[in-house]
Amino acid sequence: MTTIRTICCLGAGYVGGPTMSVIADRCPDIQVHVVDINERRIAAWNDDDLVKLPVYEPGLAEVVGRARGRNLHFSTDVNAAIAMADMVFLSVNTPTKTRGIGAGQASDLRWIELCARQVAEHAQGHTIVVEKSTLPVRTAETVQAILGSNTQGRSFVVLSNPEFLAEGTAIADLEQPDRVLIGGEDAAAREALASVYGRWVPRERILFTNLWSSELSKLTANAYLAQRISSINSIAALCEATGADVNEVARAIGSDSRIGSKFLKSGPGYGGSCFQKDILNLVYLCRHYRLETVARYWESVVEINTWQQERIAQLVVSRLFGTVTGKRLAVLGFAFKANTNDTRETPAIRICQALLEEGARLAIHDPKVDPDTIASDLGCASSDADGGWQFCPEVAAAAAGADALIILTEWDAYASLDWAALAMVMRHPAWLFDARGLADLEAARAAGLKVWRVGLGDPSLVLAA
Ligand code: NAD
Ligand code: UDX
Repeated sequence: MTTIRTICCLGAGYVGGPTMSVIADRCPDIQVHVVDINERRIAAWNDDDLVKLPVYEPGLAEVVGRARGRNLHFSTDVNAAIAMADMVFLSVNTPTKTRGIGAGQASDLRWIELCARQVAEHAQGHTIVVEKSTLPVRTAETVQAILGSNTQGRSFVVLSNPEFLAEGTAIADLEQPDRVLIGGEDAAAREALASVYGRWVPRERILFTNLWSSELSKLTANAYLAQRISSINSIAALCEATGADVNEVARAIGSDSRIGSKFLKSGPGYGGSCFQKDILNLVYLCRHYRLETVARYWESVVEINTWQQERIAQLVVSRLFGTVTGKRLAVLGFAFKANTNDTRETPAIRICQALLEEGARLAIHDPKVDPDTIASDLGCASSDADGGWQFCPEVAAAAAGADALIILTEWDAYASLDWAALAMVMRHPAWLFDARGLADLEAARAAGLKVWRVGLGDPSLVLAA
């Protein structure tokens, strides 16, 4: 078996940074070099002030604090790190293509290909190359072809080891994973990688498959998770129309051990960098293999997600007498979920853009997202004009003079807001739109707010109708 002494990871993003930090923390005898072409990102990973790490994850600062400088190193010297490594992880971005063949669906593999070429050029001796990025099935073939074209006495093995961490719980997910998946045929390489994880992951949780099953399992896991969210969101709309309550329905169906209770929380639709991209990629692969009906099945998961966001924006407008032009609306939460500063594909983007389009003045609050990110996501600088947005560091300031509070991210702090104090500074009639179902509705109603909550129908109204 190859003994791993030095690891290099290309890509110091949301996956590469936390994953390698945990590996370094758990394997003090392995030198781990995390490299990136983004100098600002690497500088932030090296910042003395651990609060300034480029990724916000509960527990991450402690892990980095223990390992950095000891056996965890962040640098922009990609080639040197590749040359030193026994094992190279590819953890670079694989976004949806925006142009050319497969635009809007297929993964853009240019960064993966560039990395493979860099490894082919700079690796020394025997190198195990590990696909950590989420990739279309059979990408390992491409990586192998690039590595194989330039061996010059060196040797390479490619493994697939997709990452299942969720943002906001990344450290817990990495430290206690449900499973670690390793795809590949080379027994020695598989064992070398398993022995890294084996330092802290029970052996029975390390699964081995062939390369293609491993690549496809990652896309499938994300498609299944996203499908559960679209399913419950579709039922939420039916609850609102019929007087049922989606939380009660979720509890009732989730108690069936065959269905299970996780991923049944209705909300403004899923966001994040993975679900949409990975399902679209799956759809593209199905079409590539001429499985049109299968492609359409998975495509509908994305359609429901988009529809849910549009539906929420429309119902806000409709409850506010059909117009929000010039009205101040407080948006609570911009991140795609709580406990992260990540806004990629956050439902807040589509919902805010729709409200801005209607001429609303948005007062946006988020405890972790900075205003520059919001400006870039919304495609416009902040302004106090109609159809403009402003960032408010405090909820109370966002609520001042607002006709509505719209909860889009389930930050804990939003569950225990002082509704009476907020209602006092709002313009009435004032609304609470709770797209995450976390507020105490009775308290909000008692404070004089009108209330809409995702998936909550009004049984009496339906009976009267
Ligand atoms: P990211 O955009 O946060 O990070 C990728 C990094 O790779 C960037 O910092 C970029 O500068 C760097 N990079 C690009 N080309 C490079 C090169 N040639 N050399 C060195 N660095 C290079 O992306 P991410 O969220 O960390 O995701 C990475 C992969 O992991 C994607 O395939 C994604 O689908 C997958 N994934 C993401 C998550 C998640 O929660 N974010 C979870 C599981 C899997
Ligand atoms: C997801 C997968 O969970 C993870 O395994 C994979 O590695 C990367 O993609 P992530 O996107 O970080 O992780 O977060 P996740 O917790 O899955 O949430 C995704 C979106 O779904 C968020 O917008 C979240 O708010 C939403 N969601 C999740 C719901 O609306 N309801 C739920 O019940 C669960």
